[in-house]
Amino acid sequence: MTNKINNSKGSLHGYWSSRISFILAVAGSAVGLGNIWKFPYIAGVNGGGAFVLVYILCVFLIGLPILVSEILIGRMGRRNPASSMEAMALQSSSSKKWAFVGLMGILSGVLILSYYSVIAGWSLAYIFESFSGTFVNANSTIVEESFFSLSSSWKITMFWHSLFMIITAYVVSKGVAEGLEKAVRLLMPLLILLLLILLVYSALEGEFIAGLSFMFAPRFHDLTADGILVALGHAFFTLSVGMGAIMAYGAYLPDNMSIGRISISVVLADTFIALISGLVIFPIVFANGLDPEAGPGLVFMSLPMAFGNLPGGIGLGVIFFTLLSFAAWTSAISLMEPAVAWAVEKFKIQRVTASFFICLIIWVFGLGTVFSFSLLSDFLLLGRNIFDNLDYLTSNILLPLGGLMIVIFASWVVNIDSLSIQLDKSRGIFFRLWLFLSRYIAPIGVMIIFFYSVNIFST
Ligand code: TRP
Repeated sequence: MTNKINNSKGSLHGYWSSRISFILAVAGSAVGLGNIWKFPYIAGVNGGGAFVLVYILCVFLIGLPILVSEILIGRMGRRNPASSMEAMALQSSSSKKWAFVGLMGILSGVLILSYYSVIAGWSLAYIFESFSGTFVNANSTIVEESFFSLSSSWKITMFWHSLFMIITAYVVSKGVAEGLEKAVRLLMPLLILLLLILLVYSALEGEFIAGLSFMFAPRFHDLTADGILVALGHAFFTLSVGMGAIMAYGAYLPDNMSIGRISISVVLADTFIALISGLVIFPIVFANGLDPEAGPGLVFMSLPMAFGNLPGGIGLGVIFFTLLSFAAWTSAISLMEPAVAWAVEKFKIQRVTASFFICLIIWVFGLGTVFSFSLLSDFLLLGRNIFDNLDYLTSNILLPLGGLMIVIFASWVVNIDSLSIQLDKSRGIFFRLWLFLSRYIAPIGVMIIFFYSVNIFST
C-alpha cells in the first residue's frame, strides 16, 4: 500500500498497489475458517442437502450484491466504514445516522474475531499435534479424545488464542497490504491443492457417495426455520459481508478498477472451497463412524483420521493446519481492520496504538469462548453456551441486519449517477442486475428469512 495521497477525498490509510492485491485481500478475507471449519459442521448439524442449497442461493442472490455494495460505498467514502457511510449519506442529502450501521459493523467484527481467534488457535495447536504423531493410525476414539483434551484445557487454548491475536494485531498495526499480498498469493493456491489431494483420498477411501448425497440431495424435511437463518447467516459470514470489512478494503481501492468481475471471482472461489471442504470431510466422517452432527470439532476430528491413515500423513497434517491457520489469519486481519481504522480516525492516534488497544479488547472477549469449552461449558443462556451465543448473535442477527441496511443504503439512498460511474458507466446488464438484486431481492430475502425464523408465519 502506498501512503502518498492524503487529501480530503483520498484514503487516509493508503491504497492497494494493484488490482491483484485487492482481489487477493478480499479473497483472503473471504476464505477462512468459515469455509473449512464452519461450513461443514453447520451443514452437518442442519441436515446437509437442503441447507447447502439454501446457503448457495443466499450467497449468490443476497451475499454477492451486498459484497458489491460494500466495495462501492467504501470506494466512494474512502474512510472507515462508519465515516464512509456518514459521508455518503450527507452527500446524498440523507441522515447522518447511517453512520450507526458502520459502528454496529465495527462492533460485530470485534465480537466475531473474539471467537474466531480461539478456533484459529485450535488450528495452530493442531500443527504441533499433527507433528507429534498423535494421529498416526488414529481411530475415532483417539481423534475425539485429542480434540476434547485440547478444547477443554483453558490454559492451552488461551495460550494459542493469545498468540493468534498477537500475530493478527501485528499485521494490522503495519497496515494491511504489507505482507498480506505475498502470503495470500502463495498460500491460497497451496491450500486448494492440498484440499484437492484430500478430495482424492476421500473419494478413494471414504464413503464418497454417502458424503455426496448428504451434501447435495435436498431433504427439505430436515431443514428447520432456524436452519434457513443459519444458512443465510453463513452466506454473510463466509463472504465477510455485513460488517464493513470489505467496505474498509474498498476504501483503499484505486478508482479505475472494475468492481463487478472482482466480486464474482471472489464469490465463486469462496463457494468452491467450501463445497470441496464438505466433500472431503463427510466421506471420511461416514467411513469412520464419526458423527456428522459433532459440531465445532468436526474438522479437527475428521481430517486427522485421514492424515493418520495416509503415507506421509504427519507432513500432510502439519502442512494442512499451517495453511488453515494462514487462511484464518488473512480473514482475522479483515475483521480487525475496520475497528482499527475507526480508532485511528476518531481518536487521532497511531495505528500501532489503536491496534494494541483493540487487540486487548478482543482478547478479553475471547476468554468467553475459551471458557465455554472448559470452565463454563455448563453455563447456558437460551440453551447455548457462550461461544454458540456469540456466533448466533453475530452471524445470524448482526451480519444480516448490517447487510440489509448496507444494501438498502447503497441501492436506494446513494445517488444513482455516482453509483453507475463507479460500477459501470454504460449501465449495462451487470449494473442493472446488481441494482435489481440489491433493491428488491436481497432486502426482501433477508426480511422473509428473519420473520420466518421468529415464526411469524406459523402463528
Ligand atoms: N469470511 C471469513 C471466513 O469465512 C471470516 C470473516 C472475515 C468475516 N472477515 C469477516 C466474517 C467479516 C464476517 C464479517 O472465515
